[in-house]
Amino acid sequence: MSIAAALPSGDCDRSVCGQAHEKSAGGDIGMRASASLVAISLFTVAAFPTGVRGEVMAFGETVPQVIDRPSPEVASPDPSPIRLDIDSLIERMTLAEKIGQLVQRMGGRSKALNSRLGPDELEKVRRGEVGSYLHVAGAAPLRELQRVAVEESRLGIPLLFAMDVVHGYRTIFPVPLAMSASWDPQVMEDHARIAARESAAAGLHWTFAPMVDVARDPRWGRIVEGAGEDAYLGSRMAEAQVRGFQGSDLGAADTIMAGTKHFGAYGAAEGGRDYAGAEVGMRTMQEVYLAPFRAAAEAGTASYMTAFNALDGVPTTGNEALLRTMLRDQWGWEGLLLSDWRAVEELLAHGVAGTRSDAAGLALRASVDMDMVADVYAADLAAAIATDPALLPMLDQAVRRILTVKRDLGLFDDPYKYHDTQREAAVMLSADHRAAARASAERSIVLLKNEGNVLPLARDAGRIALIGALADDALSQLGSWRARGQAEDVVTLRAALEAAHPDVRYVPGADSRSDDPSGIAAAVAAARQSDIIVAALGEDFDWSGEARSRSSLDLPGRQRELLAALAATGKPLVVVLMGGRPLAIPEVDAQADAVLATWLLGVEAGPAIVNTLFGDNNPGGRLTASFPRSVGQVPANYDHLPSGRPADPDIAKDTARYMDQPITPLYAFGHGLSYTTAGYGPIALSGKSIAAAGGTVTVTVPVTNTGILAGDEVVQLYMRDPVASVSRPVQQLRGFARIRLEPGESRSVSFTLTAAQFALWSAAGEWQVEPGEIELMVGSASNDIRARTTVTITGSAPGTIAPAAIPTVVAVR
Ligand code: NOJ
Repeated sequence: MSIAAALPSGDCDRSVCGQAHEKSAGGDIGMRASASLVAISLFTVAAFPTGVRGEVMAFGETVPQVIDRPSPEVASPDPSPIRLDIDSLIERMTLAEKIGQLVQRMGGRSKALNSRLGPDELEKVRRGEVGSYLHVAGAAPLRELQRVAVEESRLGIPLLFAMDVVHGYRTIFPVPLAMSASWDPQVMEDHARIAARESAAAGLHWTFAPMVDVARDPRWGRIVEGAGEDAYLGSRMAEAQVRGFQGSDLGAADTIMAGTKHFGAYGAAEGGRDYAGAEVGMRTMQEVYLAPFRAAAEAGTASYMTAFNALDGVPTTGNEALLRTMLRDQWGWEGLLLSDWRAVEELLAHGVAGTRSDAAGLALRASVDMDMVADVYAADLAAAIATDPALLPMLDQAVRRILTVKRDLGLFDDPYKYHDTQREAAVMLSADHRAAARASAERSIVLLKNEGNVLPLARDAGRIALIGALADDALSQLGSWRARGQAEDVVTLRAALEAAHPDVRYVPGADSRSDDPSGIAAAVAAARQSDIIVAALGEDFDWSGEARSRSSLDLPGRQRELLAALAATGKPLVVVLMGGRPLAIPEVDAQADAVLATWLLGVEAGPAIVNTLFGDNNPGGRLTASFPRSVGQVPANYDHLPSGRPADPDIAKDTARYMDQPITPLYAFGHGLSYTTAGYGPIALSGKSIAAAGGTVTVTVPVTNTGILAGDEVVQLYMRDPVASVSRPVQQLRGFARIRLEPGESRSVSFTLTAAQFALWSAAGEWQVEPGEIELMVGSASNDIRARTTVTITGSAPGTIAPAAIPTVVAVR
């Protein structure tokens, strides 16, 4: 079958999509090469050879260490059979074939998959000029593309197929920021597992997820793709997703390679402007921005993508200190490092490369293995190597890393294992995948306000006026990365509410895009004739995501007028707040009786919201990013430094605050209500002191459901180091547990921490556990601490890795 014939319908841009070649040039050579490599995968890969010893300026510290500068001719001290076989393949490759492995081309566009896979493209594959494709999908078309690589190229090296499968492939789950609000890493793992099952069945090997960038600035549109503002919670969500995508066997036919992104400090883009540079101090870099990446490494992420932006003036894609020295040499990470889209070429626009061949050299020197789309490696790396032969061994390292992941995915054993059309048809949007999407949507909802217990609604609530265009916007629930998600798969709030309740009047009133207020009068008329108003307000999917930064965090369009007009009716008002970022919405808090943050919840958005409105689902999500009172309050992250004049509510004092705002955010990190209430008992400690070298402490707290409904409580453990060699944050999350409690039920939650989790990044540029007192706080939110105690660290000792990257052991009894 030709690739064009096997395309999923509607994906082919006919102007560029041609017929696949049917002749089989050189197929026998390809098959021989492929067969000779079958044995390779039976062995494990040996470590890379080490290079010379020296002292380098690493990322933030000067350390004596091994510099990864091998030559392909350097013999491994203990070569395993696999090492020799990959090496012998590399030895057989021409320079052009080696560079070809480093090239990732687009097979289409994100909404026109496969559309560029015409004859010219297939010729490139035959010539061994391509290592990977992105924006491709489909078991049948990708089998044909793979066949050309394996059977018609000289060496028969299989291709890697990649796509942005960020929160679901066909079964679309809530956007990642929403799922993080579940405070349940299992939700993240389940979505990734299902996304892997569906996308692997559609011929894919690799996703560009999880996105683990810490985001403290909600103006940044990409806050929607991550787990919010906290390094500890972000680390748990990062490792859960890596586990979900990759499973325990990367070579299984239903797992895919995680592409953890965007390595560096992409989330710290100045002013929240996408792509802008990050000016981050070394301590914050190590403790906050890098921690979730480290957690992903510990979980075994097989690839990372570099950030677009510059860090302290050094564009990340050419940042040798950050990537080669720190990530590779110090962390010991050996996977595939990919640039972001054209980021190698953008080294010119950043102003650190004068020519494309300079850019190629900078990126390769930084150990970027694969060039996404820019074709700078393809066209200009050979010239860079001719000028600087020291790049040649680095090229071989990159080729080796790429071949190693291809081998680990099992592609040399069976290049067609991901191309089973029957499996593809069977798994997509199956009933159990939908059920998982519903469960994750329900767990992602956060009850921000519930004055007078207006929620849950009674079954006989009377007439409901459902207002707001977002209530009927199926596409928006898919978010900005919708992979193969279809709007017709989505059950909207309107559809679900009309199915669940006999008396609903729907009027759009206003939407988040238009400046037209003419619909407001009809919405008010409907509200007046109803018993309760449910207003879906917020942002549609296109207000957040890549290049979707905002300078305002207000409700866009005429929604504020709509809200005020609805509130003026005096009817009970429930706001269902949709969108992909925290908004500054004091007027919503002031005028609504209840506010439910429902984000963009995927294919089961409507039923999840309706179940929550009527109490079949008791909301238990919590915010993972603070909601500021105004855009001027940004960043409003909870884990700030105290300053020499800690903020004081008394405006007469000169302290670190704004004159015209309270010192607190509107809704704090960790905030979220429930239809029930929780009571906390005192903390019990396993011991009052902990040895800096290897000690552990267990913090136990009893939690009781003090209400009359079953529900979830998210028990949160925070720490503070009040006196240290450097100023420490006022709070840092160090553990959490979402627990289910029946009315009156009590459970005890224990957190066991090791001393290394109290370490700081010292002035000397190393992890250090310092002696002295640590304050421990347990509560229901960062601003709702219910129990406190202290533990004393005795002695001092080196730390290990970023403390936030280390998981706390949690036990619930
Ligand atoms: C650019 C985005 O920054 C990145 O997250 C994405 O994976 C690539 N484009 C590929 O679509």
